Amino acid sequence: MAKDQLIIFDTTLRDGEQSPGASMTRDEKVRIAKALERLKVDVIEAGFAVASPGDFEAVNAVAKAVTESTICSLARALDKDIEAAAAAIAPAPRRRIHTFIATSPIHMQHKLKMEPEAVIEQAVRAVKKARQYTDDVEFSAEDAGRSDIDFLARVFEAVIDAGATTCNFPDTVGYNLPFQIEETIRELLTKIPNADKAIFSVHCHNDLGLAVANSLAAVRAGCRQIECTINGLGERAGNTSLEEVVMAIRTRADIVDVETHIDATHIVPTSRLVSSITGFPVQPNKAIVGANAFAHESGIHQDGVLKHRETYEIMRAEDVGWNTNKMVLGKHSGRAAFKSRLDELGIILADDEALNDAFVRFKDLADRKHEIFDEDLHALLNAQQIESEFARYDLADLNVTSKLGIAPIAHITLNVDGHRVEAEGHGDGPVDAVYKAIESVAKSGADLQLYSVNAITTGTDSQGEVTVRLERSGRIVNGLGADTDIVVASAKAYLHALNLMERPLDRQHPQKSEGI
Ligand code: KIV
Ligand code: ZN
Repeated sequence: MAKDQLIIFDTTLRDGEQSPGASMTRDEKVRIAKALERLKVDVIEAGFAVASPGDFEAVNAVAKAVTESTICSLARALDKDIEAAAAAIAPAPRRRIHTFIATSPIHMQHKLKMEPEAVIEQAVRAVKKARQYTDDVEFSAEDAGRSDIDFLARVFEAVIDAGATTCNFPDTVGYNLPFQIEETIRELLTKIPNADKAIFSVHCHNDLGLAVANSLAAVRAGCRQIECTINGLGERAGNTSLEEVVMAIRTRADIVDVETHIDATHIVPTSRLVSSITGFPVQPNKAIVGANAFAHESGIHQDGVLKHRETYEIMRAEDVGWNTNKMVLGKHSGRAAFKSRLDELGIILADDEALNDAFVRFKDLADRKHEIFDEDLHALLNAQQIESEFARYDLADLNVTSKLGIAPIAHITLNVDGHRVEAEGHGDGPVDAVYKAIESVAKSGADLQLYSVNAITTGTDSQGEVTVRLERSGRIVNGLGADTDIVVASAKAYLHALNLMERPLDRQHPQKSEGI
């Protein structure tokens, strides 16, 4: 018997971006959206269009760039939000407006300060308004996981009558347990007389580490859409991880009665892209996409795998995109080959000048590194974007002396607002010395919360990709830098973070109740 299709709704660009420090630029969002389209996700939630002019532009740019997946914008149950969402997604061939309002007693009373009847009225109004712009309207009952089931059933019945085509059950604070969410959704569906007129969806947060398990339980109860993010990126402990949920469904096809459209061979490259753009490293033991996910360390395991792979492996690394690293380009590759590989990766450069700049950087890298992989190209493009956008601080020169038994000394030259400034720093290690030198100029007062180095590809000539997380007065930013010299990469990452700190923060959070 044919299996039901499970809709994969990716919200990396919206809920994922709500992780502190994970904010993405328009062009970065377009690159990730193109990767999601290649992965064949059904719906891409591209952002919250009303949040700021930058957010609007980003959703709009994704709507122009993607033709296969449906493009969605989030909107509170407010006219101005829905109008902004509709305008932003207008260029997309397939468009969805996703509107929401909270339905739990705690949110209605303390956040919205609204009576339950008024919440239903507002939800219905919002769905009708959204239907004026598109036939594909999703309604979410925020904090459904802590809402009264009879009230929730009334809300969903009313919004389906008003034209909602998808009804989403968010476990906003990650409070539910798998058996409980399964029972709740099963019962909920029996209480909604018109439930067959809409697709039911689930949206889980991972506060108790149960987002994937809860999503699968909801599918058992009848949900036919899962909302998820690449690498499980998202606020607090994150959202349901796309790669985990998709591979659980595929690997256990023997007992799961749904299937997805996802082309799993693009999972690892997409994971890496999201990690390198957001600066959120993937933990080595993370399922599917962690560096150790398919590594067999123990002798017994290695022996078993060599004799018969299935003794210890339930999935094949290559099926999720491991080992697909191709030596795509090298020192002798020309401009046309370079451009054609960028096109294949969905990387669109603004104009010829940007392409020329990228090509010069590529040639420079190829002089230092024989084999240039897709990951190198992404890192190169990240660096170009970082430098072109936020350039209060720029690295002009760096010289570090490091000798066994002697504290390293760094001499740096920075361009600060176009003026050359030189500084010196002493530290416990070369990176510490460089950061002290930079801080002697910037005096940022920021707290270094995370410093991590990842090799982008294999081999000692790999580019090191450094992530630096800085915090100041509650604001968190992630800086990124890549170079074959990790001290240089570290300096670039720190300067990127300082530049991000300088940007005005003008966006609003979707789950604030302003105007409702
Ligand atoms: O977690 C949540 O409740 C959300 C909604 C806006 C869908 O992200
Ligand atoms: Zn959420």
